[in-house]
Amino acid sequence: MAHRVRLGRTDLQVSPICFGTWQLSPRFWGPQPEDQLLGAMRRAFELGINFYDTADAYGDGLSEEVTGKALASLPRGQVVLATKVYWHFYGDGRRHPDLTKNYILSACEASLRRLKMDYIDLYQVHAWDPVSDPRETAEAMELLVKQGKVRHYGCSNWNCEQLRLGEKLGNYATLQPPYSLLKRGIENDVLPYCQANDVGTLVYSPLHRGLLSGKYKGGETFDDLRKGDPDFQGERFRLITARVAECGAIAGSYGLTTTQLMYAATLMHPGIDCAIAGIKNTAQIEEIAAAMGKRLSHEDCHKVRTLLSV
Ligand SMILES: NC(=O)c1ccc[n+]([C@@H]2O[C@H](COP(=O)([O-])OP(=O)(O)OC[C@H]3O[C@@H](n4cnc5c(N)ncnc54)[C@H](OP(=O)(O)O)[C@@H]3O)[C@@H](O)[C@H]2O)c1
Repeated sequence: MAHRVRLGRTDLQVSPICFGTWQLSPRFWGPQPEDQLLGAMRRAFELGINFYDTADAYGDGLSEEVTGKALASLPRGQVVLATKVYWHFYGDGRRHPDLTKNYILSACEASLRRLKMDYIDLYQVHAWDPVSDPRETAEAMELLVKQGKVRHYGCSNWNCEQLRLGEKLGNYATLQPPYSLLKRGIENDVLPYCQANDVGTLVYSPLHRGLLSGKYKGGETFDDLRKGDPDFQGERFRLITARVAECGAIAGSYGLTTTQLMYAATLMHPGIDCAIAGIKNTAQIEEIAAAMGKRLSHEDCHKVRTLLSV
């Protein structure tokens, strides 16, 4: 039986692990071999994953193109494709937020062209744009639903007040916020808001960009976006990796890897429907897919949370 959850108040039935494709953004992650990603995306479907997250801005269209190519060989009705709009990019490195109606309508057409699809299952506003009128943004989203180009729409990186306003203006059915066991701030407000209002949640960076996998020992250096991240530097990096190693012992007692333990513990939060895994190759998604359906005792889940309260 495939693992499926209903995403908030939508009729989308998705795997609790979503395949994240931001890794196809060379400016953040360096160049990744396209064939490797294509293979991993197709393998994910064989492993029971039916949910894929991309964005028009990831690699200025590259991620959508590769995701579209991978999904072309899969039955369209059985996959759930989520993408995003927000960055108005020009192809020469320039970009700025844009959630005006005309831009959204043209960006959606461009996404459909790159994906080689005729509809998007979940169209997400990537972040809050303080300059665009939120009424216009919601109007554009509603129009796209009416036109059959979008099945549902949602948002990403919004706080509670932004969600509250958005919900007055339109039917934002999902939220994509940052969350990992090391960074649980949204448990205080955003997640309870989503639970109370049946907003589906798909959290991003659940492995804290690889830091919770257990493979880093605290002395590594990075040439991707992690080189500027204080969690990957100095004493703090060493402390976190030591705590993650302690979590590894708990993982072992369940026959899980450290990475699988982190996904299982993340998905135990009843306000989290789905965790988006950033993937570079087939081995990574094979390991993570095996965490679906795994649960810890509440005692062990709290032990992990306490160890990672640093
Ligand atoms: N809405 C937004 O603003 C937003 C922002 C960020 C991300 N996202 C979405 O969320 C997805 C996930 O977020 P993320 O990529 O930031 O973080 P993540 O999933 O926490 O970490 C991804 C990194 O972890 C490492 N990794 C993955 N699987 C592994 C495994 N099985 N074992 C060991 N290491 C593994 C890989 O890097 P190494 O192998 O190099 O360590 C990979 O690049 C993205 O792809 C994107 O779809 C959305």
